[in-house]
Amino acid sequence: MSFEIHSEKKIEVQPPFQKDMRPAKHKANVFLVEVQANVPCPIILCSDLHTNAKDLIERLGRKLPEPKEWTFLSAGDMSGTGILGGNGYSEEAIRSALETFRRVYFVEGNHDLESSYSRGFRNEDGSHCHVSGRVQEVENLGWITGIDGVISSKKKNQRRRKSDYLSTLGRLTKGTTIDWLLTHDIPLIEEITDSAIGHRELRDLVVEEKVQHHLFGHHCFSWWQGKIEETRFINVDSRIVFLSQEPLGLFSDSMYDI
Ligand SMILES: [Fe+2]
Repeated sequence: MSFEIHSEKKIEVQPPFQKDMRPAKHKANVFLVEVQANVPCPIILCSDLHTNAKDLIERLGRKLPEPKEWTFLSAGDMSGTGILGGNGYSEEAIRSALETFRRVYFVEGNHDLESSYSRGFRNEDGSHCHVSGRVQEVENLGWITGIDGVISSKKKNQRRRKSDYLSTLGRLTKGTTIDWLLTHDIPLIEEITDSAIGHRELRDLVVEEKVQHHLFGHHCFSWWQGKIEETRFINVDSRIVFLSQEPLGLFSDSMYDI
């Protein structure tokens, strides 16, 4: 797939709430990126929108000329009070995305409380919105799968032991060329991100299984996408990336002028 960045825009969003439930004094941003790509359908990629998730989805619904043409992929943390804030349910954001876009696929991040409600959501074509632990073939998108949570031995929300995480992912990716892999956790891809954050084993597994696109969140890298062998890694923490054949020039004006 070709992948050419057409335009980028930084918008200010509501800062995270502190423990005393007052907004933090520092600014919080989300980056909007339009990418020209030879995709078979227009696709939105995002994660870690936290307390702003529902509001941003609703704004997109008003901003996009044909929101019902877009497929929406989320790599998690669409809940909670802020970047490092408390946990919450992503149900409202996911339901809003389902009402706004053609179809929705998501995994849950470490701030998303497990929700049997949103895990039960289905798209109009019958496919499951929650992709963790499932391998599905979707029209115009290909094979999609994912895994919730992050690798950690801590007894906290959405943490998984490394061996369990990797064996589950190995099972999901074996024998099928996955077009879209959604994880909240981070592969170690120093040559793209210029950072030592992430898991080497996750990256090795993804490259070895020839996953075509690996969408991940959890930490916002400034160098956020690139290819290693056949895999394009895309970091979408605090980003909303619009993939379409012809970029629409959506954000030449302020998103908040809607
Ligand atoms: Fe996270």
